[in-house]
Amino acid sequence: MPTATYQHRKGQLETYFDRTAFEAWARMTSDVPLSGIRATVRAGRDAMRQTLLDWLPADMRGARLLDAGCGTGALAVEAARRGADVLAVDISPSLIRLAQERIPPALNAQDPQVGADQRLQGGRIEFHVGDMLNPDFGRFDYVVAMDSLIHYKASDIARVINSLSDRTSSAVLFTFAPRTVLLSIMHAAGRMIPNSDRAPAIEPVSEHALRRILEPQAALAGGRLGRTRRIASGFYTSQAMEVLGA
Ligand SMILES: C[S@@+](CC[C@H](N)C(=O)[O-])C[C@H]1O[C@@H](n2cnc3c(N)ncnc32)[C@H](O)[C@@H]1O
Repeated sequence: MPTATYQHRKGQLETYFDRTAFEAWARMTSDVPLSGIRATVRAGRDAMRQTLLDWLPADMRGARLLDAGCGTGALAVEAARRGADVLAVDISPSLIRLAQERIPPALNAQDPQVGADQRLQGGRIEFHVGDMLNPDFGRFDYVVAMDSLIHYKASDIARVINSLSDRTSSAVLFTFAPRTVLLSIMHAAGRMIPNSDRAPAIEPVSEHALRRILEPQAALAGGRLGRTRRIASGFYTSQAMEVLGA
């Protein structure tokens, strides 16, 4: 499936998240105080993570979940707390290292300080540096891609979701950057700023256009599109969507 545009963008994102934005991303995903725009982005991202977690079962014992583009691993940890067997994948080796350092002791079965009663029943996280589409990962009950596809073109997002849905039995949850007038203006302005450190552009996607591609794709596999929810908080705007399996 990987197209030239997907591969090109993935390379840019690896450099960006692994080096350029690593420190900023480590702070954004920590609990150090933030102010202004960054605080609103963190609040929006917390609300989005909670939305996706609310769409997952409360008891995930026996379920296998892929956290696709896991970053520093906050969602992976919550899924493992519910008992899921989590594969957390990211193209950035530095973010994966940080995610491993941030695993709470009660989830770390290697830690001799942690008594068996403190460990969660069956939940565990395996981290992996690489592409979320690696076919060697096998099948999943759930896939979550929170804000990890927002820099890809709509056609590539649809291909990724199709490919992940093919190997997922219950649901693929993902987010996209919805195309709104305000966001289009902001993104156009951002593209005009000459700045070598600037993030690879976010690709705003029309919900209508995305549905037109994803609905028949899901139906062909016996599934359907489920819930959707847009979250806007300061400079953060992202929309969650659910693709349900057969
Ligand atoms: C905006 S961050 C979101 C991280 C995490 N999901 C969260 O919400 O905190 C996007 C992440 O997706 C990762 N990523 C982008 N494309 C990827 C791909 N093709 N395979 C694996 N990870 C990818 C990036 O390295 C980055 O860590």
